[in-house]
Amino acid sequence: MAQNEPTVAVTRRNFTTEYHHDTYKRLQARLPNAAASGKSVLLTGAGKGIGISIALAFARAGPRVIFLCGRTRATLEETRAKILKESPTIRAEVIVVDIGKGVAECLQALAAARNLDSGRSVDILINNAAYLASARVVGDDDSLAHVQEQFEANWKHYEVNVKGSLALATAFLRNCVPSNPVIINISSGAAVLDYVPGIGCYASSKLATLKMYSDLSFEETARGSRIFHLHPGSVQTAMSAPGASSPDTGTHTRVPLD
Ligand SMILES: NC(=O)c1ccc[n+]([C@@H]2O[C@H](COP(=O)([O-])OP(=O)(O)OC[C@H]3O[C@@H](n4cnc5c(N)ncnc54)[C@H](OP(=O)(O)O)[C@@H]3O)[C@@H](O)[C@H]2O)c1
Repeated sequence: MAQNEPTVAVTRRNFTTEYHHDTYKRLQARLPNAAASGKSVLLTGAGKGIGISIALAFARAGPRVIFLCGRTRATLEETRAKILKESPTIRAEVIVVDIGKGVAECLQALAAARNLDSGRSVDILINNAAYLASARVVGDDDSLAHVQEQFEANWKHYEVNVKGSLALATAFLRNCVPSNPVIINISSGAAVLDYVPGIGCYASSKLATLKMYSDLSFEETARGSRIFHLHPGSVQTAMSAPGASSPDTGTHTRVPLD
């Protein structure tokens, strides 16, 4: 980092005065109305971090079936086992998919979900999977090999977080019968913070998806689709842990993402 470079720059004011670290009372009272009984849910990034908690929370809301998606079958099976331990009557199915591969791969995943659920389409899509590598555009090491490696690590944010999110939404909306489908996009504060060192491409990719899904909510008004953005706050996961390595690049993350 250059000597006079700011660590994090925030010029906007928070619009919330209170922070919660658990399901707070007022929200708890509303949860019975939020039951997902009879619904099917497809969640990406279900094998790790925040995705595990989302999977368990949705399973508690009693859906018809929950599809656990990601690239690693073993971690998805672990989440499935956790769900069945806590909610033995819930149907949880594992679907291996790499959203970064694009729309054909995502269409296949949605088709697999349909086949597993007697031809019924998915009701709720949760776009949670994402990629983060802390990679400066040109850092202290400006050797060709390193700069190229950093470029690939930076570009991958758009492959997974933007192309993957678009592919997933496309496949979901193409497959769903018009019955008020719901999309929940897991966004990030990084998208709207002015500056966090080393994650410009992660932040801009999350901002692109925020805008893409927001526009989609207008495009989808006619058939009653509802699209929500959810910012999870700062959560200690593989993605946010200071010094943690991204399994994809071996580069290092350095900052919390709230
Ligand atoms: N942690 C935070 O503080 C924080 C803050 C703000 C926003 N968020 C957002 O919260 C969401 C979850 O983050 P997390 O912290 O839980 O991250 P994480 O622990 O690194 O989990 C990321 C998940 O995405 C999956 N994934 C990555 N690339 C994929 C691909 N190409 N295709 C399919 N699945 C893929 C991973 O599974 P496989 O590797 O098995 O595919 C993993 O399950 C992300 O959207 C992130 O931007 C997190």
